[in-house]
Amino acid sequence: MELHKIENNKNAYMDILLLADPDVEAIERYLYDGDLYIYNDGADTVGAAVLYPLEDGSCELKNIAVLETLQGKGIGSKFLKKLMGEASKSYIHMLVGTTAPTEGFYKSLGFEYSHTIANFFIDNYPEPIFEDGVQCMDMRCFKVKL
Ligand SMILES: CC(C)(COP(=O)(O)OP(=O)(O)OC[C@H]1O[C@@H](n2cnc3c(N)ncnc32)[C@H](O)[C@@H]1OP(=O)(O)O)[C@@H](O)C(=O)NCCC(=O)NCCS
Repeated sequence: MELHKIENNKNAYMDILLLADPDVEAIERYLYDGDLYIYNDGADTVGAAVLYPLEDGSCELKNIAVLETLQGKGIGSKFLKKLMGEASKSYIHMLVGTTAPTEGFYKSLGFEYSHTIANFFIDNYPEPIFEDGVQCMDMRCFKVKL
């Protein structure tokens, strides 16, 4: 599997990005100014992620998703490790805002708790977001040194 940066026609990857972020307008707020990477097996895209540059030399992982049928097989970990390697060429830290169910995924790759943004999911989305039947409200942010 390989990591590729996508420069054009980023909208073509909207379906996979929607697995991690349910709102097209929210995705569009970071997709075009951010760097879109895909993880692919030949012609098949198995994952997509967006890195967004921050002002302090860090980047924020705004979105990461693996195709639903391929989740839980270790692909997301390999994808994010490659992405961290790529990001380390330009950035010092990577931040990610999470919802509770995915915290374990980031912690397993060395991310540590940084801070919480209260009511993020209420203030930034038109519809309530539920994960595992629980409404997402605050966003907990994690950080790793690259
Ligand atoms: C999150 C995601 C990218 C992880 O990719 P993946 O290929 O499924 O993850 P992996 O198989 O590499 O799992 C790595 C570890 O994280 C854990 N993990 C992954 N997703 C998890 C989840 N949703 N809840 C709890 N643990 C999770 C796995 O149990 C595994 O831990 P282990 O090594 O101790 O068994 C993928 O599940 C996905 O696309 N989910 C939907 C979109 C999403 O929620 N994105 C994150 C937005 S914050």
